[in-house]
Formats: sequence, structure tokens, C-alpha cells
Amino acid sequence: MNKIIFRNATSSDWDCIAQLLQEAKLPLDGARDHLDHFVLAIKDESVIGCAGLEVYGECALLRSVAVSAGERGKGLGIQLVRQILDQAKAKQLGTIILLTETAPNFFPKFGFRIIKRDDAPASVKESIEFKEACCESAVTMRLDLAGGG
Ligand SMILES: CC(C)(COP(=O)(O)OP(=O)(O)OC[C@H]1O[C@@H](n2cnc3c(N)ncnc32)[C@H](O)[C@@H]1OP(=O)(O)O)[C@@H](O)C(=O)NCCC(=O)NCCS
Repeated sequence: MNKIIFRNATSSDWDCIAQLLQEAKLPLDGARDHLDHFVLAIKDESVIGCAGLEVYGECALLRSVAVSAGERGKGLGIQLVRQILDQAKAKQLGTIILLTETAPNFFPKFGFRIIKRDDAPASVKESIEFKEACCESAVTMRLDLAGGG
């Protein structure tokens, strides 16, 4: 198997990230403004996975967790989420929120629990994903990071 490397995104990765999100049927809205907090999985110089944070004070929205169709089921999704949560801890974030329509059974393995959408922190509710991109039927989940700010 060819080597997979993980690195943070830069603005020049946007086209590849956008393509991956479109293929995974995830919203693009607002993602480009938060590329500083995206982790990528790269194989043969191609982006095959991503996960991103939108940081709002001591809270963050976890979004855009996607693995390209041909690379799923090999543990990449788990590695991407672990890496982004490690980065969240390093940033001393306290609470991570996510919205998902497609994978509510994927995230409990990291400690995420379902909450009411209204109970998300106000700062995160101001994100484009909450206000516009992710529909009302999406499940809202929360993770509190030990030792976070
Ligand atoms: C969700 C996604 C990122 C998972 O990536 P992946 O690389 O296939 O996941 P992994 O191989 O690391 O999965 C490991 C575990 O999660 C489970 N899993 C994978 N996708 C899942 C899903 N959508 N729902 C529930 N469990 C899932 C696997 O069965 C596996 O379980 P196991 O360890 O008990 O065998 C990928 O399926 C994807 O890109 N989906 C489309 C986009 C999406 O729905 N993103 C999430 C919302 S932001």
C-alpha cells in the first residue's frame, strides 16, 4: 500500500478539498474560510481525506469529515478525526460540536453524544453550517475535551 501522510491544509488545497466534499455530498459553504484548521490525508500527492474545525472562542465545529469512496473502510476516517481532536486539545478548545445527516453512528466512538440543536453553544450556532448549510434534520453532537479552556 502506498504511504499515506497527514498534514494541515493550505489555501492551495481548496480545489481538491471542494471536490472531495462534493463527492461525499457534504456542504462546501464556509469551509474555505477555515482551511487553517483542516487536516488532510494525502496519497500519491492526491487528497483522499479531510476533516476540519471552525474555531469559535473555546468551542469549535467539527465539519467536512470525508474520505474518498475508494479509500473508505481502511481506518482513515478514524485517523483523521483523532488527528483533528488532538489538534483541538493542543489549541485548548473545550467543546466540539458537529452536525451530521449521514454518520451519527460513526462519532460516538470518539465520545460524541447527541444533544438538541438548540443546546449548542451560541458561538457555534452562528456558523454558516448551522444557519444555512446543514438542514434541520441533521443530528447535533457534542464532545467535551478534558482539560480544555
Ligand atoms: C464517515 C467516513 C468519513 C468514514 O471514513 P472511513 O475511512 O470509511 O472510516 P473508517 O474506515 O475509519 O471507519 C472505521 C469504523 O467506522 C465505521 N463507519 C464508517 N463509516 C460510518 C458511517 N457513515 N456510519 C457509521 N459507522 C461508520 C466503520 O464501520 C468502522 O467501524 P469498526 O471500527 O467498528 O469496524 C466516510 O464514510 C465518508 O467520507 N462518508 C461520507 C461523508 C460523511 O458522511 N461524513 C461524516 C459527516 S461530516
